[in-house]
Amino acid sequence: MSASLHPVSPGCGVEIRGVELARLSNSDMGLIRDAFHEHGVIFLRDQNFSREDHLAFARRWGEIVINEHFPELADTPEIAVVIKEADQKTNIGGGWHADHSYDPAPALGSILVARYVPECGGDTMFAHMARAFDTLSDGLKANLRSLRALHSSRQIYGPGGAYDGTDLKQVLKADGALSDAVHPVVIRHPETGREVLYVNPAHTIRFEGWTREESLPLLNHLYAHATKPEFTCRHRWTPGCVAMWDNRSTWHHALNDYHGQRREMHRITIAGTMLDAA
Ligand code: SIN
Repeated sequence: MSASLHPVSPGCGVEIRGVELARLSNSDMGLIRDAFHEHGVIFLRDQNFSREDHLAFARRWGEIVINEHFPELADTPEIAVVIKEADQKTNIGGGWHADHSYDPAPALGSILVARYVPECGGDTMFAHMARAFDTLSDGLKANLRSLRALHSSRQIYGPGGAYDGTDLKQVLKADGALSDAVHPVVIRHPETGREVLYVNPAHTIRFEGWTREESLPLLNHLYAHATKPEFTCRHRWTPGCVAMWDNRSTWHHALNDYHGQRREMHRITIAGTMLDAA
């Protein structure tokens, strides 16, 4: 069967059919790379994808980063377990974010494999930040290009953060290190050369040289713009579905609408580079 591309929405995401990820030819790898760069997130359904296949596919992209906070698969620390049991209330990633934007060299991307999914619910939303940036006014774009922003893992994973006092706290690693980093607000995408809006609601604290209070009105304006339906897509998981997203050019949000049902996903995060201003 030959590979074919099926956009999930005009603004973000593409499903790739006719490719077996565990037996990937170099030409299909080229097609996958191009689709990933163009659409920000790729989806491949019905994959027979062992943990060894997951590791081997990830290594074709670069080095693997071990997440400081998520639980890991026994004997395979490279694979983080994104899990919510039927009796838990809080999920991992239940708000718009870009993985690891709080690291000095943020992750290139993440590869998520659906191992056990609710009968209904637990979809993931994605949003494309190059397309969101392109549609801002020229005046706002010019101002944003001169700014940098502080990102931190503290407001999610730190004391008093989003997960503190929730039933997710016991699932997360107790000794995970917290991290802060400053990045340009508009980055030049390392592979595509496109300008990308690089702030996100979960991890961006404030603009450099501004207070949080001063930063929030502009950040909230950008967040409302970036999550308009025309830049987003919603992905319905099925067992064996593999998604890979670009953490530089997209955000994602794992919906938490399936209380009473179990969901287990396996994630590998790929190392990225320092990000340059546009
Ligand atoms: C995440 O990596 O943020 C979780 C995504 C998901 O579970 O859908």
